[in-house]
Amino acid sequence: MSILVTGGAGYIGSHTVIELLNANEEVIIVDNFSNSKPQSLEAIKTITGKDFKFYEIDYLDRIALEKVFEENPSIDSVLNFAGFKAVGESVKKPLEYYTNNISGALVLLETMRKYNVKKFVFSSSATVYGEPEKIPLTEDCKIGGTTNPYGTTKLYIEQILKDLYQSDPTWDIAILRYFNPVGAHESGLIGEEPQGIPNNLMPYIVRVAAGILPELSVFGNDYPTPDGTGVRDYIHVVDLAKGHLKALEKLNKEKQGLFIYNLGTGTGYSVLDMVKAFEKATGKKVAYKIAPRREGDIATCYSNPEKAEKELGWKAEKTLEDMCKDSWNFIKNNN
Ligand code: UD1
Repeated sequence: MSILVTGGAGYIGSHTVIELLNANEEVIIVDNFSNSKPQSLEAIKTITGKDFKFYEIDYLDRIALEKVFEENPSIDSVLNFAGFKAVGESVKKPLEYYTNNISGALVLLETMRKYNVKKFVFSSSATVYGEPEKIPLTEDCKIGGTTNPYGTTKLYIEQILKDLYQSDPTWDIAILRYFNPVGAHESGLIGEEPQGIPNNLMPYIVRVAAGILPELSVFGNDYPTPDGTGVRDYIHVVDLAKGHLKALEKLNKEKQGLFIYNLGTGTGYSVLDMVKAFEKATGKKVAYKIAPRREGDIATCYSNPEKAEKELGWKAEKTLEDMCKDSWNFIKNNN
């Protein structure tokens, strides 16, 4: 049996492929390198000492995707990491985001149905909770009120999956709501490589520490949080990757169900906590200034991760120090 991983050369996809190969799973990757590089596939091989099949195709290309299923009857589950993920860009290019993320998911699901492959793990995001109903967030909190097309694509795909399951309960579906993924593989060979100036906090911090960017703008220090700066649930990408293996295990065991899990640590850290933790872990200084709030940001967002612990036996294990050290190690190696 093999696992098809769309977007397997990307940030979270590549880390998950490593964990799958380390667990002796057979992996087939589909990626069009729209936001990743072929080198990450080489890095996966170096890190694991294992090989996998790879198809350089766009997952929106139905004919090419059907060929992958045709040629690989061993595929019995799919992990979908393909998709655009830059919040700011999604506001400027809504049609591209809706097409790539939603039409891509639809083509993939239709192809799966055609080949009778019905185990699907979807990369969702805590962004689907919009303005949090309560903190910490549990999976039954209300969703909706997303503030950008990226977030809305996640929300809509969740709905599509619920409707699909309703229509045909022989599907096994896991929706994983990621909180704030950071860090990199400890080898320093793979990590996050945002194009241009990063929007997210950790990639920005590491670039300031490396002297690539002059200083961090802390977006607002007047939020109702302990130090006034935004609080988030940062999770190490390797912990996140391991969550996917546990979700797959659950789908293989349970047979038929749609399950939703928060993947977070359950602990919130502020922007200034992150700056201090990074400086402590790496010995590098991070220059910053207080800037106005960023539109669409919320004060506090962190998970209650108990459902995943109880039902999947999964818990984030890496520390904030690991997240900072590994993020730094990756940028040091790659600049
Ligand atoms: C963002 C997205 C979210 C997406 C997630 C992916 C928004 C509104 N939300 O979450 O939809 O799923 O990334 O990782 O963009 N900050 C600074 N200075 C910076 C960058 C960030 O102060 O230069 C602060 C933010 O105000 C926030 C915290 O750092 O309080 C985290 O920001 P970020 O890393 O962008 O993640 P989110 O906004 O939580």
